[in-house]
Amino acid sequence: MYPLLRNRRLRASESIRKLVRETELNPNDFLVPLFVVEGKGIKEEIASMPNYYRMSLDELEKEVKKLWQMGLCAVLLFVKVPDNLKDNAGKEALNPGGLMQRAIKTVKNCCPEMLVMTDVALDPYSSFGHDGIVADGKILNDETNEALAEMSVSHATAGADFVAPSDMMDGRILTIREALENEGFTDTGIMSYSAKYASAFYGPFRDALDSAPVDLKNVPKDKKTYQMDPANRFEAIKEAQMDIDEGADIVMIKPGLAYLDIVREIRNEVDVPVAVYQVSGEYAMLKAAAEKGWLDHDTVMLEQLLAIKRAGADIIASYFAKDVAKLLS
Ligand code: PBG
Repeated sequence: MYPLLRNRRLRASESIRKLVRETELNPNDFLVPLFVVEGKGIKEEIASMPNYYRMSLDELEKEVKKLWQMGLCAVLLFVKVPDNLKDNAGKEALNPGGLMQRAIKTVKNCCPEMLVMTDVALDPYSSFGHDGIVADGKILNDETNEALAEMSVSHATAGADFVAPSDMMDGRILTIREALENEGFTDTGIMSYSAKYASAFYGPFRDALDSAPVDLKNVPKDKKTYQMDPANRFEAIKEAQMDIDEGADIVMIKPGLAYLDIVREIRNEVDVPVAVYQVSGEYAMLKAAAEKGWLDHDTVMLEQLLAIKRAGADIIASYFAKDVAKLLS
């Protein structure tokens, strides 16, 4: 008790602070999301995500080599699909020569050890901007699962190490796991977006991929019938446990900062690695505040990521991954 105990002794110098520090960020913690587009020599900045780009395959190759040199060892691929290839069933997602399949091969060819995870969901391919097949104003569950399973097999065939279903259909992990097993992809992992909330923080991402739900009659305007209600906590634990039972190797919580209570609870409940996605809106907020001179970019960035790790994240998907790796080196 005070005055014999004085907690400030452990904060007195940078050396003692380092010695007793509980959590430290490391490039190995990060998963780098990358946006891929058709074309050549394309590196276009995303308007609502300053200093983040959509890249054609040749630029992707350069970027991946750079990331590897910086100590970043895992990427999460997303593709922007041209409108003329979109339909309700997301057929283009299964094209063996599709952009995602070529992107996977591009990364694996230039940097075989780079871990490749792929987004599995129909929204970039959907003419309605939904993660599932739309019928009569609803998102079909089981039919969508079949499409996601085929998509996963297609990604595994192209060389993906992990598939990352981000759709929130019920039972999709089991359907995907069974399809992978049946096709002999017993070593392909699944990182499940288990607790993915119906969040307004995804706005800039939908700009990046032009994947927002369309405003049409008989098409749901939002994703609230499949993504989780931000008000709910127990449900997140149930989602994570069910995904693990169905065969998920890693579970993810998304968004990050506003959901760290959920991260801690799931970390306490499960015995698989827990990933957190610090999403596009979180990135955009800090960029905007820093641009105005209202926040110090690098210190706030590190503080936020540290908070995510302290809350229990073993893996962090973040658009800041490269900035952090640079700062830490
Ligand atoms: C879609 C998907 C989304 C994100 C990742 N996968 C958006 C959505 O559900 O509408 C969001 C990522 C981000 O905002 O950074 N399957």
